[in-house]
Amino acid sequence: MSDPTTTTYDDLHSPAIPAARPIPRDAALRTVVTALESITETRIVWPRGLMNPGGPHRRLRGMISPISIGEDECLVFRRLIEVVRPRHAFLIGNAFGFSSAYIAHVMESHGGESVVTLDSQAEGDGLRCARIAEQVAQTLGLRILTSRHGTSPQDVPAAATVADHDLVFIDGLHAHPQVTDDFEAILPFTIESTIFVWHDYWVPGVPQGVAAARARGVRVLYLPTSCEMVLGTRDAATFNRLRASYPEAREGLPRYGRLTALRVYTQIAAAYLIDQVRFAMAR
Ligand SMILES: C[S@@+](CC[C@H](N)C(=O)[O-])C[C@H]1O[C@@H](n2cnc3c(N)ncnc32)[C@H](O)[C@@H]1O
Repeated sequence: MSDPTTTTYDDLHSPAIPAARPIPRDAALRTVVTALESITETRIVWPRGLMNPGGPHRRLRGMISPISIGEDECLVFRRLIEVVRPRHAFLIGNAFGFSSAYIAHVMESHGGESVVTLDSQAEGDGLRCARIAEQVAQTLGLRILTSRHGTSPQDVPAAATVADHDLVFIDGLHAHPQVTDDFEAILPFTIESTIFVWHDYWVPGVPQGVAAARARGVRVLYLPTSCEMVLGTRDAATFNRLRASYPEAREGLPRYGRLTALRVYTQIAAAYLIDQVRFAMAR
């Protein structure tokens, strides 16, 4: 197993990102990374961030995707949990459990009562990802975390255990109309002050999902994290708290063409192939 402080890095990174100081890990991140890397070998992707400085992100060794959220993005959730203290969270897209383990771990020490994830196991070796997610949760003893196997939108009502989720993280299939369908499916299980979080705003499908939420009265903030997060809520007071808590946030959203996604997907594939060749040559 690799040491969490000396993990191998994929070489390719976004040329747009200048060398930046690594973002310090908080104790929860160290705990989650140590648990994950005691179970399986991971690879670091985008050590300095993708669209903005941040990262690193992770994938499992031998699997091109799924790729986790960045460590900088975990810290966005920490701030959110400290400020808003959500009781019930619903996460669409769990992969190998990195974001859910972090969120559940921090929520447990801030009065959180439940974190439910829904994942179709459609990306990469989905079953292996789900087993690793389960092992991470067990290793950390995350009693508020429940991971469900199912597909959004159709399986959302069965997975949603309460009617008042106050935190929703949409990080499943990034395509149109899937992201919109994810939002519409969980909407009946939320309240005015629920905070919605989208990841990978640069990926086609996510802007359409965010636009659909805005049409339903959700006010949003763009965060310049590694893979771009958008936070939103329908409640004015909660929105103002978010704005005060994230001084780096912008109310304007970036515009991208499809070339951005093509460039990044090519980069992911190239980094993965280089890593596979190196691994084969080292044997
Ligand atoms: C980007 S990964 C999630 C990463 C995770 N949030 C993290 O940071 O650790 C996306 C996940 O969404 C899952 N997925 C794709 N389509 C889905 C759907 N319709 N419903 C539920 N999960 C889906 C995939 O199997 C994959 O594991």
